Amino acid sequence: MCGIVAYIGPREAYPIILKGLKRLEYRGYDSSGVALLNNDLRVYKKKGKVAELEDSLVGKDLHANAGMGHTRWATHGEPNDRNAHPHSSASGRLAMIHNGIIENYTQLKNELSRKGYQFKSDTDTEVLLNFIEDIQKNNNCGLEEAVRIALKRVVGAYVIVLLDKESPDTIIAARKGSPLVIGIGKGEHFLASDASPIIEYTKEVVYVNDYELAILKPDELILKNLGNEKLTPYVQKLDLELAAIEKGGYDHFMLKEIFEQPDTIFDCLRGRLDVTKGTITMAGIQQNIERLTKANRIIMVACGTSWHAGLVAEYIFEELCRIPVEVEYASEFRYRNPVIHPGDVIIAISQSGETADTIVAIEKAKENGAFIMGVVNVVGSSIARISNAGAYTHAGPEIGVASTKAFTAQLTVLTMIALKVAKEKGTIDTTRYMQLLAELHNMPEKVKEVLQLAKPIQQLAEKYKDAADALYLGRGYNFPVALEGALKLKEISYIHAEGYPAAEMKHGPIALVDEHLPVVFVATKDSYHEKIVSNIQEIKARKGKVIAVISQGDEIIEKMANDYISIPETDELVAPILSVIPMQLLAYYIGVAKGYDVDKPRNLAKSVTVE
Ligand code: F6R
Repeated sequence: MCGIVAYIGPREAYPIILKGLKRLEYRGYDSSGVALLNNDLRVYKKKGKVAELEDSLVGKDLHANAGMGHTRWATHGEPNDRNAHPHSSASGRLAMIHNGIIENYTQLKNELSRKGYQFKSDTDTEVLLNFIEDIQKNNNCGLEEAVRIALKRVVGAYVIVLLDKESPDTIIAARKGSPLVIGIGKGEHFLASDASPIIEYTKEVVYVNDYELAILKPDELILKNLGNEKLTPYVQKLDLELAAIEKGGYDHFMLKEIFEQPDTIFDCLRGRLDVTKGTITMAGIQQNIERLTKANRIIMVACGTSWHAGLVAEYIFEELCRIPVEVEYASEFRYRNPVIHPGDVIIAISQSGETADTIVAIEKAKENGAFIMGVVNVVGSSIARISNAGAYTHAGPEIGVASTKAFTAQLTVLTMIALKVAKEKGTIDTTRYMQLLAELHNMPEKVKEVLQLAKPIQQLAEKYKDAADALYLGRGYNFPVALEGALKLKEISYIHAEGYPAAEMKHGPIALVDEHLPVVFVATKDSYHEKIVSNIQEIKARKGKVIAVISQGDEIIEKMANDYISIPETDELVAPILSVIPMQLLAYYIGVAKGYDVDKPRNLAKSVTVE
């Protein structure tokens, strides 16, 4: 949520910042802005996407060797020019960008107002900036010390980056609860919310930790804690190629990421699943296998699409491992005073590894003695670091705001973990174990087959794009896929959609069905097949338009459905990895047909780093 980028060194800062902002735009696109520092400090900002900022800056003086930029997902204050970042301090000496929320900003604002400060924006950011400036003035100290003092008073989450007109050779940044990466070049430093703006300049990075302060000069990086003690920066090599963060000929990142799934699932299985030897190698799981085999209960904690992956995993773990599983929305779990026993294992599922609700939920559970396993995509992210153990999903950078390839990678990893635990625990027989290993092994090829259906799905999208509402129904392993299908449609095409367990319809929602309502059934061949056929009949009887995702050769549903999409048959336990792909494509093509910016749906941002 909100993207930040900064540069200091011999090059022109603006082009680096602008390119970085475009790469970070998935984190928010309500407004954007830059501050450029040479002998003077210039701040330019604009409501809307980065391209609008760029247009507005044509002909302006953009020369500077230090600067910073911000792309915003609004929290405090509506998206407009005034609330856009960077903010300038009352004296005009300082400029600051911020990602996060300052929870006690009202209190700080009242204190400053009493001293006569006036505010140009509605943001918590401007309050913190003036609070820092006030400390600097009163204590007659440098900016670094003022930031340190101010942050001791701050409640909330932040990455802040500051420029001071009086120190054109220095950038100061600090982090708590939001991501911050420093890129180390030759005589230059970069700073960003993730590595994507940095990757083409350097592969040497330092991930800043909570409560750390970074002082960047062209040829010097100083890292300190809030107690003013120097820390040794831990320099890591980035394992990321530029191609992974570019569209590579696709119209949108979302489509690219949908089509990457044969490769991402393959990458996820690679080096782990050996179908000939019948082994699954996952070091993080193996080292903690007893925690899992002896777990009294597993609690999956996640948000959004990752929560849907948790729901599928609930069915898989209970079936294979015979361990009770609960699936919790992180945002609810954290505030509920949940009962956590020492034998409980929490599995935190997150693409970004930076979702604030999930972070706080697991921190709290950890304090209460729970063992945390992270299933995370972004290497080195906060959730990966907080977790006691875990497994990465290796799906590569997911830039489209709607999650696609991360979901199928999460399902793949969670299935492997469940299989490993079941094998160790003796709750699965060898034949079934080997069968499921083979199904997982074959998944990339089967996903390729599903992707060949893109054209007919695009035609379906044209047919149904004007629907006002849609229902998505499924049973068993496919029930969470129905939820995910509805979520994808809502976020990409702004069509109201509900996901429901098919059998629950008769308990109320069936009242919605009429001849105008498209009802998407996720109805591949499984142990619920006969039952879902009856549910389809119930919708048909009320003239609903049935679009069914079925297994190849399912003549029964072919005859009943208004439209159907046939996908390769597979074991019901791993069927969601295939059945979700038509959901992703349908939402994508409807969004495109309606003329929406599917990579940047309105009101959304990729990683949700605010609560
Ligand atoms: C939906 C989507 C969101 C995320 C959710 C959790 O397409 O992307 O619902 O799944 O915000 O994000 P992560 O997985 O990064 O914790």
